[in-house]
Amino acid sequence: MNKVILFGNGQMADVTHVYLSYDSPFEVIAFCVDKDHMQGDSYRDLPVVPFEEVAAIYPPSDFSMFIPMSAKNMNKTRVKKYSQAKDKGYELISYISPKAVICPETEIGENCFIFENNVIQPFAKIGNNVILWSGNHIGHHSTIMDHCFVTSHVVVSGRVTVGAYCYLGVNATIRDGITVKEECVIGAGSLIMRNTKKGQVYVGHYTKPSPLSSDSVNII
Ligand SMILES: CC(C)(COP(=O)(O)OP(=O)(O)OC[C@H]1O[C@@H](n2cnc3c(N)ncnc32)[C@H](O)[C@@H]1OP(=O)(O)O)[C@@H](O)C(=O)NCCC(=O)NCCS
Repeated sequence: MNKVILFGNGQMADVTHVYLSYDSPFEVIAFCVDKDHMQGDSYRDLPVVPFEEVAAIYPPSDFSMFIPMSAKNMNKTRVKKYSQAKDKGYELISYISPKAVICPETEIGENCFIFENNVIQPFAKIGNNVILWSGNHIGHHSTIMDHCFVTSHVVVSGRVTVGAYCYLGVNATIRDGITVKEECVIGAGSLIMRNTKKGQVYVGHYTKPSPLSSDSVNII
């Protein structure tokens, strides 16, 4: 089941196609998109077929599928397609970069995309349909529940639970033992020191322009 049908025809699909083609045991056979998003019948020199008809052309008995979509609508657009693909009978692959460090005694679900330089420590659990973009630290005994999107260089300390559907912005830091309730947005550069409430947005402070001009400061 290394022959994969890739959902999408945008930037996420472009990026995914590169990772699967150059750095994985998987072979992308075709793309599929919703009929009303079709822009032609080929993409990146491969066939594109309508999602509505994909099972008849590339049956789930012979092909698996990957749905690497963005966090749009708090990940719910990706969840909808993920569920529809499962209803069609597809096995959903997970891509784990060989340049990620996955310690023993970890669990990773289906339709996950784990980019390079992620570190997943022992006893950490990654649910289904989770995206870990590059360079995150997922500490020991932490759980990232289903359908989360973790951007880049996020520190999830040990014994943290991140509830389903959360979005963690770049360079966010989650203190050890914290529970981030489901459907939270943790803004870029935030520091989470207390448990969060469901469905809230958390942001810290960000750097604003100084009155100094760059040619007036002492750069050695
Ligand atoms: C939280 C977030 C989703 C809010 O986005 P938004 O609705 O577009 O909000 P804005 O950027 O317009 O900011 C609104 C206000 O919230 C505050 N704010 C928003 N995000 C913030 C952050 N990460 N840190 C500090 N303050 C933030 C600011 O005070 C801003 O007000 P001001 O600039 O007028 O003073 C967004 O700021 C964020 O952090 N996104 C994650 C980005 C990221 O990680 N991208 C990686 C993609 S791979």
